[in-house]
Amino acid sequence: MRLDESSPIPLYYQLENIIRRRIEIGEYKPGERIPSLNQLNEEFNLSKVTISKAVANLIEEGILYRERGQGTFVSEEKVKDFSETTGFTETMIEEGRKPSTKVISQDLVSPSELICDKLMINDKQKVILTVRIRIADEIPVAFEKSYIPYAVAPKLLELDLSKDSIYQHLREEGYSLNKTIQEIEAIEADKELSDLLEVKRGKAILKRKRLTFSNGNPVEFSFSFYPGDRYVITTESISTT
Ligand code: GLP
Repeated sequence: MRLDESSPIPLYYQLENIIRRRIEIGEYKPGERIPSLNQLNEEFNLSKVTISKAVANLIEEGILYRERGQGTFVSEEKVKDFSETTGFTETMIEEGRKPSTKVISQDLVSPSELICDKLMINDKQKVILTVRIRIADEIPVAFEKSYIPYAVAPKLLELDLSKDSIYQHLREEGYSLNKTIQEIEAIEADKELSDLLEVKRGKAILKRKRLTFSNGNPVEFSFSFYPGDRYVITTESISTT
């Protein structure tokens, strides 16, 4: 792809497309620095204003990002979570990524008041708490704590969650997982999250609380933490009126 000075397409836009194309074919790779303004200026012989405009547009689109004093880099592709009712493993496979999991714990515990309230159980009933780091293509993309009443899925305690999917197990046990209520908020990574998700302290994190139902009955309450720059949550609403 080359610049075409006789084209009615503005030069900054042509340059944007050249950079986009170079990213697509892997000439500029995610996480790598692209050539500096001076280098682009030498290669394309365009004014710095035109080059800056092309680069600024790509930064605005999230395709590039700037690190102060370091240069401009190609963004890592974000994990997209489209569905509100699929689990991590399914979502990653749908996206063509390789999911894996580091299990931190998988225990039978007594529920707190909040968990009793969400899962509509009493404090005598036990819940299975699983704590996991979810990995996509070798990069940690989520830290999750999931609470499921023991009575809902007692065999969950025997699963090898470094490989097995909780949602697949629940579906195999006959649960339909057909409704969720979610709350998503932005927080900053504290020491724990920065260690677990391998991000700098203070980095933006998306925190998602999710209550999942099967035919009207709550079966899971979970907390998930996603690095803000590695995850994008998309929701779809359909009005029936
Ligand atoms: C999502 C949900 C969690 C759920 C998990 C199940 O990430 N936010 O609440 O526990 O999926 O994932 P898997 O089926 O891979 O175990």
